[in-house]
Amino acid sequence: MKGNRICELLNIRYPIIQAPMNWVSGPALVAAVSGAGGLGTLGPNAGSPDITYDVDLTAERIRERIQEIRKLTDAPFAVNIVVGFGEDTKYSEKVVAVVIEEKVPVAVVSVGSPKVYTERLKTAGIKVLHAVSTAEHAGKAQAAGVDAVICEGYEAGGHKGLTELTTFALTPMVADAVNIPVITGGGISDARGVIAAMALGADGVYMGSRFMVTRQSASHESVKSAIVEARDACTVSIPKGKMLARDLKNRFTEEYMKLHESGASLETVINFLEGHSQYHSQLLGNAAEAEICCGQGAGLIRDIPDAADLVAAIAGDISAGFAALEKRLANFFQQP
Ligand SMILES: Cc1cc2nc3c(=O)[nH]c(=O)nc-3n(C[C@H](O)[C@H](O)[C@H](O)COP(=O)(O)O)c2cc1C
Repeated sequence: MKGNRICELLNIRYPIIQAPMNWVSGPALVAAVSGAGGLGTLGPNAGSPDITYDVDLTAERIRERIQEIRKLTDAPFAVNIVVGFGEDTKYSEKVVAVVIEEKVPVAVVSVGSPKVYTERLKTAGIKVLHAVSTAEHAGKAQAAGVDAVICEGYEAGGHKGLTELTTFALTPMVADAVNIPVITGGGISDARGVIAAMALGADGVYMGSRFMVTRQSASHESVKSAIVEARDACTVSIPKGKMLARDLKNRFTEEYMKLHESGASLETVINFLEGHSQYHSQLLGNAAEAEICCGQGAGLIRDIPDAADLVAAIAGDISAGFAALEKRLANFFQQP
């Protein structure tokens, strides 16, 4: 029998991809997940001491982090390339050059067209996973030559397009629309979510928030504690121009929504966002008043485990979860 398509493609043991997280998924987390048989992904700014708008410094910091990862593990890992739009691509241009020079095995490409970098990355021998939030976009990514698509459902933490397709609806639509392997994420916190994702047609899973709350994540302890304490409907999707961002509910989300609804000027909104960004929560520890990107699965997160143990626990729970599912499905057909 052929193996899992994502494991074969990426040369990993478990099709568990730790999603890239700005300021959060630094070398320690990436190495722990990859070393445990999943695929860790380096996120923007993760491991950086401060904010920089210097294009060259941004790329050189990524290079340093890649070299740190290599000191910690020999296993395959990924680097996030946030394509950006218009002028913004000046950052990703340099990051792509570093990723190619450093012979990074996998690129997780998000926020932008698959046409921009796929060919360049693939020519350099890098596997390309492209994040999408509609089946149409998945088809375009396949046509551009990506190796696999990543579905980001509405439940997902962080920024995505304006579409509100949930993981439950999006995953089978994408699985029907493409022939290449499908990874899905948004709201997955444990083995039940993984089993559901596979049932919907995914070959692998993409998990951000759950890995944010692990010992190796670079998130400030106050952020991790806030998520552990959060329950139920603890996140909110906020509109940010051409994007939606899913965040943990706190004073930042309340104030931001008031500002948004008051019709404040763009300049006022931008100033507010810059003064309350993830740099302020994830790095400086202002969990109450700054933005914390976080997915709906937060309500299921109750502990701060070692990231490698988490990978092993999720993989280990799949057999028992699947056995329970088989029983429930068998009962589905039982006549009264
Ligand atoms: C704190 C945080 C930061 C994120 N930063 C990025 C980022 O820099 N680039 C990116 O492509 N996605 C980013 N995301 C989105 C994740 O890569 C992924 O889509 C999401 O975490 C999956 O949903 P989940 O959080 O419910 O597991 C971020 C998510 C979180 C929670």
